[in-house]
Amino acid sequence: MKNTISTFKDAKLKGEKLTMLTAYDYTNAKLVDEAGINGILVGDSLGMVILGYENTLPVTMEDMIHHTKAVSRGVKNALIVGDMPFMSFHGDINATVMNAGRLIKEGNAHCVKIEGGADFCQEIKAITRASIPVMGHIGLTPQSFNAFGGFKVQGKNAVAAQKILDDARALEEAGAFAIVLECVPAKLAEKITKAVNIPTIGIGAGIGCDGQILVMQDMLGMNSDFTPKFVKKFAAMGDESKQAYTEYIQDVKSGAFPEMKHSFAIDDETIDKLI
Ligand code: KIV
Repeated sequence: MKNTISTFKDAKLKGEKLTMLTAYDYTNAKLVDEAGINGILVGDSLGMVILGYENTLPVTMEDMIHHTKAVSRGVKNALIVGDMPFMSFHGDINATVMNAGRLIKEGNAHCVKIEGGADFCQEIKAITRASIPVMGHIGLTPQSFNAFGGFKVQGKNAVAAQKILDDARALEEAGAFAIVLECVPAKLAEKITKAVNIPTIGIGAGIGCDGQILVMQDMLGMNSDFTPKFVKKFAAMGDESKQAYTEYIQDVKSGAFPEMKHSFAIDDETIDKLI
């Protein structure tokens, strides 16, 4: 079944949990889509897990379009969300709408995601006016890494928690169709989820959200450097991949690979004719 923003709205009404993962390439997007996910976020987290940057700030519109296009070729049913990278929606409003439009026209995304709360309502209104659905993202917004002084849980005191709740209401009012809640206390996420009529998608925000999202490399156990507390590893792909690479190296060096069954034949007669 094709997922659209209506699927997201209906799921909230019916109390059905929404599932999302990030993906950045054709092969993995196809696998996730075939597994039956509701939505795929081509997140600017690709800056860290694909491109090896320390944070998401260097990611460009060109990076996002390149990866969103690749993902779209592998997807039949999932809703594709293209992430607006740092500084692509912070200047002139026309440039913001054009950048959102590029993720749809060139990247083949179905909608875009913007990090930030009430301060970005004008941008969300302008993008939705262009018939581009917008997913909001509040709590720990990684593009505000420098302003936050690192990757930290947000909304732990009354003032900060109230601000996030107010932001969620403002995003709904501005026309966002869903909101990512990242790294906020579970009870706050639950309160926000009850306070708004659009679905909340949690990452490090507890069970009370309308859906969940994880970064693919984290949930596959591919990151050996650091695993955030909120990540459950559903596989040990990092260890399995490294084991496969090691065996490949050994087999090539020892001559165990390739075998006859991996090789192509030619008639002896033909070979013998060669001078
Ligand atoms: O870029 C990303 O992957 C994200 C998720 C963490 C929600 O924004």
